[in-house]
Amino acid sequence: MIKLKKFISAAVLGLMMFSLTSCGTKKVDVGIVLPTKDEPRWVQDETRFKEALKDTNHSVEILFSQGSSAKEKENVDALIAKGIKVLIICPHDGSAAAAAAEAAKKEGIKVISYDRLITNTDAVDYYVTFDSVAVGEAQARYLVEQAQGKGNPLYLYAGAASDNNAFLFFEGAWNVLQPKIADGTFVIKNSSEAVALQGKAKLTRDEMSRIIGQVTTNWDFNEAKNKAEAHLTAASKEDKGNVYILAPNDGTARAIADAFAADKDVTSYKITGQDAEKASIQYIIDGKQSMTVFKDVRTLVKDAIGMAKDILDGKEPKTTGSYNNGKIDVKAKQTEVIVVTKDNVKQALIDSGYYNASDFTGIK
Ligand code: BGC
Repeated sequence: MIKLKKFISAAVLGLMMFSLTSCGTKKVDVGIVLPTKDEPRWVQDETRFKEALKDTNHSVEILFSQGSSAKEKENVDALIAKGIKVLIICPHDGSAAAAAAEAAKKEGIKVISYDRLITNTDAVDYYVTFDSVAVGEAQARYLVEQAQGKGNPLYLYAGAASDNNAFLFFEGAWNVLQPKIADGTFVIKNSSEAVALQGKAKLTRDEMSRIIGQVTTNWDFNEAKNKAEAHLTAASKEDKGNVYILAPNDGTARAIADAFAADKDVTSYKITGQDAEKASIQYIIDGKQSMTVFKDVRTLVKDAIGMAKDILDGKEPKTTGSYNNGKIDVKAKQTEVIVVTKDNVKQALIDSGYYNASDFTGIK
């Protein structure tokens, strides 16, 4: 009996050692690198990737960069060492990630930029994305539709300048807001650079940089909240009342909304968002956030995996257009977005099977 036990534990140990060593040298076909676990948006992408990959016979590994370009490069190097053939990467910083993409390209690995474009390099093969200009346009259109009369106070916020998308979102928003600033419907309250440029229908990247430099949230909730509080402190009572807020995404929208809600001189606020994060859907149901732009991550994931599979099978992935990344035109596949407000939240997110009604309270 004792002998048998010994034999079994030796066998189990051997098996464990075998699986450990085989793990260590295990080959990976596709590497996926996402920017951070600190934002629900990217945890959501991980979940959707895992769901979509359940039945695949390719080996896939997902790593997070935790908001650091250095960590991102380490992740890519680790995946290269595991023999990946395709890299799907959402860069923390679009231009800093060029080095990681170039390292991959040198090994013959195909690089798919995921959601955010890697800029200023020829080492990106494909780009899967949502229509980011349309996101900004939808946010701005919502604010325009809600505004009545003239002189409505407008507060602008933007994403991180290191993220190419922040420019696309802002460009889209400016397309729709600028005529309504020019005709006096809105009055910008928190950016002298935006005020200086308010007569211009189309802004250059440098001009956008100047505005984004003033109103960036860096995609950081705390920074968003601190900035909103500072703007409210600087603003007079007349600059408040019924206010309109362009918030670039859901995480920053909740932070900014909380700051505006706490100011007694703010009578009402309308605020935008994007991502349809669960916490923001609850905010929308509760009337604390006005809208979000739903980007169905299932589609983006499906497109990215579809491209990776095509590459592994030696086929040319299908694309629908291209994006210039400052150096080359990157072949791209683009997905549409959907505006979600209290009125269509159930139909857009519950009936479509994206979330469960039980994830929320008070959904009708
Ligand atoms: C993504 C957004 C996200 C933001 C902050 C952008 O590049 O497109 O969905 O909210 O980054 O992470």
